[in-house]
Amino acid sequence: MTINQQTGLYGVLGFPLTHTLSPVMHNAALTALGLNDVYLALETKDITAAMTGVRALGIKGLSVTIPYKSEVIPLLDEVDSLATNIGAVNTIVNREGRLLGYNTDAWGALAALEEVISIGHRTRCLVIGAGGAARAVGFALQTKGAGVIIVNRSPDKGQALARDLNCDFLPWAEEDRAEAEVIIQTTPVGMYPDIDNCPVPESVLRPGLTVMDIIYNPWETKLLGLAKSRGCRVINGLPMFIHQGGAQLRLWTDLEPPLALMRATVEAALGVGRH
Ligand code: ATR
Repeated sequence: MTINQQTGLYGVLGFPLTHTLSPVMHNAALTALGLNDVYLALETKDITAAMTGVRALGIKGLSVTIPYKSEVIPLLDEVDSLATNIGAVNTIVNREGRLLGYNTDAWGALAALEEVISIGHRTRCLVIGAGGAARAVGFALQTKGAGVIIVNRSPDKGQALARDLNCDFLPWAEEDRAEAEVIIQTTPVGMYPDIDNCPVPESVLRPGLTVMDIIYNPWETKLLGLAKSRGCRVINGLPMFIHQGGAQLRLWTDLEPPLALMRATVEAALGVGRH
């Protein structure tokens, strides 16, 4: 592509951004869509100053990541109701100078799950964790009417999320009682370098269960390896990452994102298939 005086700017705000795959994914998509736009990693330690810069420079849209997904909310002009309920914004759209906040992690998680299982009124879903990712997943599942159960290491945080979702909470290591059809793992347990740990007892993993881990480094976590060997359907964190990015592109451009190309680009960047 040629960068010229009309090239528009998108980016990701966060700290640190050393390992972000968003630029590789979004630049491939913007180019494929024929847009004269680029997407950069905009690492910042000062989100307030960064947002002043976004307004002053007319940056067209942003992804927001750790640690700013909540902190950015009061700096926006409007936040949609799902992002408000979740309490986190991962996407900003600059609509003629007004900064609008959304949460596409929620839709990303749902779309990733719905590649393999349809989520409806009677789907019992166990969410492991009670942090920002768990909140997004929990609210997303409820938009489909699914039955959500939260399990979390610290009961107070888990119970607080269960209260917000008006759903059940189970103490850590009592996952067996959930009789879930779907498990969504949102904690960092099993993420590189903690690759030998699994956050649920193996006995929970029954044939026919669908298990999604939002981690994609390692490609197959200990949880997913055990789940696969016990006859579960497994989904790693990549589909959620691709779908949340696709939803961002839709919000920014009103165009249909090239999801297959985005997935192939990120897989190549991760070295998938090279080992
Ligand atoms: P994020 O916003 O990315 O979801 P977070 O808000 O830090 O991250 O939440 C991390 C979640 O992973 C929390 O539910 C946390 O459990 P606690 O509420 O008990 O802290 C969970 N978590 C992190 N490390 C964990 C560990 N070693 N074992 C079990 N749960 C863990």
